[in-house]
Amino acid sequence: MDVVERILVSKEQLDKQVEELGARISRDYEGQELVIIGVLKGGFIFLADLARKITIPVDLDFMSVSSYGNSSKSSGIVKIIKDVDTDITGKHVLIVEDIIDTGLTLNHLVELLKTRGPLSVKVCAALDKPSRRKVDLKVDYKGIEIPDEFVIGYGLDYAGKYRNIQEVCVLKREVYTKK
Ligand code: PRP
Ligand code: MN
Ligand code: MG
Repeated sequence: MDVVERILVSKEQLDKQVEELGARISRDYEGQELVIIGVLKGGFIFLADLARKITIPVDLDFMSVSSYGNSSKSSGIVKIIKDVDTDITGKHVLIVEDIIDTGLTLNHLVELLKTRGPLSVKVCAALDKPSRRKVDLKVDYKGIEIPDEFVIGYGLDYAGKYRNIQEVCVLKREVYTKK
């Protein structure tokens, strides 16, 4: 698409990462009750790929949250638009995200879900921008580390669009500086 400056993470790199994470998760939770919670909207593509690389039975559910809205900066306020309907009491929980930036979204979700009596709450993200972190967050299943660039694709949007690009791409600067 013409808003793409360059490809940062290729399809091949993503596939390999997803496969490794799926295998690790399958090993680690073997024989356990696991509820995987995808964080919408951004997490939907990664979760769809990851879920199919997991070889043990799991419950899948979704939460819809928003902290960025249409802005490129985190508001710091995590709005829950849709909660899960699965009872996570006495179960292991794994939250799946497309990207960790400041860490505020996941930090908030981990703390919220911990109040519901789960056996454990862990996090998994396809991408990580550690240079932007604002809170100390333990990332149990970490995907690919990326530099501090505005990225789109593989679930990540700019103003709601471009989530459907297959690779992780750097957005052209002129797209978000103009207007
Ligand atoms: C983005 C992204 C993560 C979060 C990461 O979601 O998908 O959920 O921000 O940022 P953080 O670590 O600084 O909290 P966004 O709020 O844009 O909603 P969306 O997934 O619907 O695009
Ligand atoms: Mn998101
Ligand atoms: Mg977004």
